[in-house]
Amino acid sequence: MHHGPSSCSRYIASVLPGCCMQASDFQCTLLLFCYFFGLFSLSTFLHLNYKNSTTCTSSRSSPEPIGAGIWTVNSIGRLGNQMGEYATLYALAKLNGHQAYILPGMHRYLSPIFQITLPVLPEEMMGKIRWKNINLHDWMSQDYCHIKGTYVMLTGYPCSYTFYHHIRHEILKEFTFHDHIKEEANQYLLGLRQEHQEVTYVGVHVRRGDYVRVMPNTWKGVVADRGYLEKAMNYFRKKYQNPIFVVTSNGMDWCKENINVSRGDVHFAGNGQESSPGKDFALLAHCNHTIMTIGTFGIWAGYLVGGETVYLANYTLPDSPFLKVFKPSAAFLPEWIGIPADLSPLLIGPTKHV
Ligand SMILES: *[C@@H]1O[C@H](CO)[C@@H](O)[C@H](O)[C@H]1NC(C)=O
Ligand SMILES: *[C@@H]1O[C@H](CO)[C@@H](O)[C@H](O)[C@H]1NC(C)=O
Ligand SMILES: *[C@@H]1O[C@H](CO)[C@@H](O)[C@H](O)[C@H]1NC(C)=O
Repeated sequence: MHHGPSSCSRYIASVLPGCCMQASDFQCTLLLFCYFFGLFSLSTFLHLNYKNSTTCTSSRSSPEPIGAGIWTVNSIGRLGNQMGEYATLYALAKLNGHQAYILPGMHRYLSPIFQITLPVLPEEMMGKIRWKNINLHDWMSQDYCHIKGTYVMLTGYPCSYTFYHHIRHEILKEFTFHDHIKEEANQYLLGLRQEHQEVTYVGVHVRRGDYVRVMPNTWKGVVADRGYLEKAMNYFRKKYQNPIFVVTSNGMDWCKENINVSRGDVHFAGNGQESSPGKDFALLAHCNHTIMTIGTFGIWAGYLVGGETVYLANYTLPDSPFLKVFKPSAAFLPEWIGIPADLSPLLIGPTKHV
């Protein structure tokens, strides 16, 4: 019935590279048994020697050593979502003691930009595995410390530091840019410095595009307006000498019409191409501080930069269905600085025509 190696022997080949692609199912089962029995003994040993603290507060609070199986995550959405999915998989697989693999689609998305290290699941194995789907909400909780299953597919759009902040150094390492991207971004930033020696770069991400309609229509919310951006930029102008604002957006025309450039410290950068977001993202990530509006792209920029991050806060009405799927306290780090949104356009409603 089988054409070529069975899925079992192919799996073995993935954990024990170069081995046994042609093994029969019986040989294969035997090998698997020996392999995992060995691994089990080793993991028991390691477990006894492993001390670490995580967000899990239960008796099983330390990450398990790697055990059997394949854990992966869906590959959906654009850059910010893909990064959130990757980091969440990385953290939860580690916490539950399983090897994480990413899908080919995620690899195609992230590997041209970052030096990611998780192995890639071959396309043809996808359909052969009976996955246990675990649909995640967007914040860490106790039950995610004990997810049962050997072949697990995490689903959803997780993007919350609560999953991975305890191993942020590993996550930041995964999202190390390739050298040529890093150099290009730094070169660009240097070019903005002009005669000043000491400058402070503030990356500004203005998310527009589909959100301009989706926020009011679906989520009873708003996107950032010119008042927010002015306040956020003034925060940095007061605090730092020679700030340089590097604006990236998927709605650059709106930015050029609505951001006051009279002080000469604003630069509109990047190409805003949603199909090649890596360049914009690299620029933001190499600045010293971040102004974000909404969306996971800006959240990740702030997280990678690690400087001060100013974000748009409370941008939906209190009864918005958005707040059922999005927990602000799990999205924005406690030390980030929120500036509340002006919700008056929602309250005035459709009678206001401008
Ligand atoms: C832009 O900012 C300058 C201060 O640098 C201010 O004088 C001017 O009125 C502002 N323009 C608008 C349109 O707000
Ligand atoms: C600010 O960012 C630039 C560009 O990445 C970097 O060269 C510089 O060292 C940073 N300054 C501080 C104070 O971190
Ligand atoms: C957002 O709203 C909550 C609840 O009303 C409030 O506690 C919080 O301070 C607000 N955040 C900002 C930055 O205004």
